[in-house]
Amino acid sequence: MLHNMEARWYVDPALYERERQVIFRRHWHLLGPASELDEPGRYLAVEIAGWKLFAQRGQDGVLRAFHNVCRHRGARLLEEGTGRCDRLQCPYHLWVYEQDGSLRNTPFFGEDPSFKLEDWPLQPILVEVWRGLLFVAIEPATGLVEQLGDMPRELAEFPLETFRPMTSARFVMAANWKTYTDNFIEGYHIPGIHPGFGRVIDFARFETVALGNAVRMTAPQKDGSIYGGKWMWGWPGWTLSTFPGGMNTSRITPLGVNSTELVYHFYFADLSPETEAARNQVVETNCGIVREDFGICEHTQLNYASGAYRPGPLSPRQEQSLIWFQDRVRQLVGD
Ligand code: FES
Ligand SMILES: [Fe+2]
Repeated sequence: MLHNMEARWYVDPALYERERQVIFRRHWHLLGPASELDEPGRYLAVEIAGWKLFAQRGQDGVLRAFHNVCRHRGARLLEEGTGRCDRLQCPYHLWVYEQDGSLRNTPFFGEDPSFKLEDWPLQPILVEVWRGLLFVAIEPATGLVEQLGDMPRELAEFPLETFRPMTSARFVMAANWKTYTDNFIEGYHIPGIHPGFGRVIDFARFETVALGNAVRMTAPQKDGSIYGGKWMWGWPGWTLSTFPGGMNTSRITPLGVNSTELVYHFYFADLSPETEAARNQVVETNCGIVREDFGICEHTQLNYASGAYRPGPLSPRQEQSLIWFQDRVRQLVGD
């Protein structure tokens, strides 16, 4: 019989620090629609497992990404979120960087013959676009396509490029990123936690399947369902769900051992005013389901932290994806 991970995996700061190094530093992360950075100068700054990063489209059209860390005394250059700027100026002592990361000037620094601007560029990271989606990585163990595993094949039939982003939503949950991921990749909890959702799918035929670096969840839809019946999750923390006329993506990444950020984007083929009410309803219904998971995940997290929990059995029928996911984490992080 297979068991859930021991509680310490969800609460131990030392294990989280190892995850930061071997999972989050070494893999690609979905940031959202690449079209958010279409315009020259547009940037997006994020924090992923404590790593502050940003991507920017330069005036020369090139997409670049860097650690959001000033080379002087380490200040954060850009506040998390999107914006537009030409040169980057550190808010702390006003050092100025070009869009290619080179240091341009250091006002009031004074004379030091051994100091050369060219020795202090921003630290670059990797950025790539796959089917209109923007990914970044710090020091990835593999290329993006290799990490995507079975995801490209699973999404081949969906016209992702025809969908345009309409809106985004951000959630922060007081639970470990694996507490929420365990929840996301099984449908076992649907009758208990999402009864409204459960009513419009054929729950008896809900399936979760662990593929290469991805999990596919499917369920036949009943009349009146606004869901597409296929939900994908990609290692280590992103999701893509399609529905008639659109899709949503999300990033599931930690802010700390006990805090998880979810950033959703909603995309539609038709953004005309006539479809606005229906689109808003899709967004609201989806966000409602995300919120339904918060309470159960946060209280489960508290039970992991309390010391009372002993690992319980996992269902081969319902929880095979957790078995794969937890194994992968254990293999990489070591025990
Ligand atoms: S930390 Fe950026 S200029 Fe000092
Ligand atoms: Fe859920």
